[in-house]
Amino acid sequence: MSEALRRRLAEALGERASRGLLRRLRARSADDPRVNLADNDYLGLSRHPEVLAAAAEALRRWGASASASPLVTGYTELHAALESALAEWHGYPHALVMNSGYAANAAVLGRLPASGDLVLADRLVHASMVEGILRSGARLIRFPHNDLDALEMRLAEAGDRPTFVVTESVYSMDGDGPDLARLAALRDRHGFTWVLDEAHATGWHGATGSGLQEEQGVRGAADIVVGTLGKALGSQGAYVLCRDAEVRDTLVNLAGEFVYSTHLAPAAAAAGLAALGVARALAPERPAFHALSREWRAGLAEAGFAVPYGTSPIVPLVFGDPSAVLRAAEALSSSGFLVSAIRPPTVPDGTARLRLSLRRGLREVDREAFLSALKGAVA
Ligand SMILES: Cc1ncc(COP(=O)(O)O)c(C=O)c1O
Repeated sequence: MSEALRRRLAEALGERASRGLLRRLRARSADDPRVNLADNDYLGLSRHPEVLAAAAEALRRWGASASASPLVTGYTELHAALESALAEWHGYPHALVMNSGYAANAAVLGRLPASGDLVLADRLVHASMVEGILRSGARLIRFPHNDLDALEMRLAEAGDRPTFVVTESVYSMDGDGPDLARLAALRDRHGFTWVLDEAHATGWHGATGSGLQEEQGVRGAADIVVGTLGKALGSQGAYVLCRDAEVRDTLVNLAGEFVYSTHLAPAAAAAGLAALGVARALAPERPAFHALSREWRAGLAEAGFAVPYGTSPIVPLVFGDPSAVLRAAEALSSSGFLVSAIRPPTVPDGTARLRLSLRRGLREVDREAFLSALKGAVA
């Protein structure tokens, strides 16, 4: 590498460090004793016996790798079975398994919109969606977070050009979401293509756990849904659901993320399929997840933290100052809680935060101990 390039990289990193925004990897140990309030395994399914058994059986039967991209030989009967189950669960005719949610979003939004199209995206949609949109060549306009009045104004100005509206159902760093019934009504009135990321809602929301569309009574309403296997489903990988076969066929033919990459390992597909069954069977427990979310939010509010109302598993504690967030995360870690400090550019400048990730099985004593540790951490 040239000295000029090395210096350029060092300067960019130094600039980040000077703003308290440099990131470092930390290898976690398998037997980390801290209470985990940081990952996305909301239902604890990554260690569920049925999920582990399905993955182990797939490892024995199919080996550790898909060993090829899907159009070569990487697409197996397991992937096909997973797609059928996902499509049926969410109420869509077509599903396509992809290697990650990042790849799925980048593929959908990089390949479907084209130059001359308009994409209206919520200000806080995930980086993978923004990357796809920018690559597509379409015009991107971002509307204020969850502000459907602002979206409606933009739609009125959109004219006849093909228009996409891009939202999440549970926002990954804020744990809130838009009114999906209103979005569905807007889509029916304006005829845009609605792309909805249900990554953080799947498993937690909806009577059968298929997500916020189900919970809000608009199952199957969005034109295209992206979901992940790597969060509440406790596995790895992702999927795209759509009503039109052309969407799936376009991704199968044109999305580089799908065509040119070794397909999802069969064991991950098998784990996802087993987790889907477990998540569905948790229906009677689902109200308790939402009660848990409300109780944590109430406790945090009582302790003086401004937390948004809601029932999702994600609760943001906004500090603003990146260094203060890091200090709080360190102090909580010493008290036995693993929490993630989220800093710009993952979240907008001035909104560095602790992102609490709640999970099935958290007890009242965990909440009380956390609240007391948090008070100490910010004192
Ligand atoms: C809303 C959202 N969509 C997509 C992704 C990417 O999913 P994956 O981790 O499967 O790449 C994430 C990851 O955190 C996310 O928060």
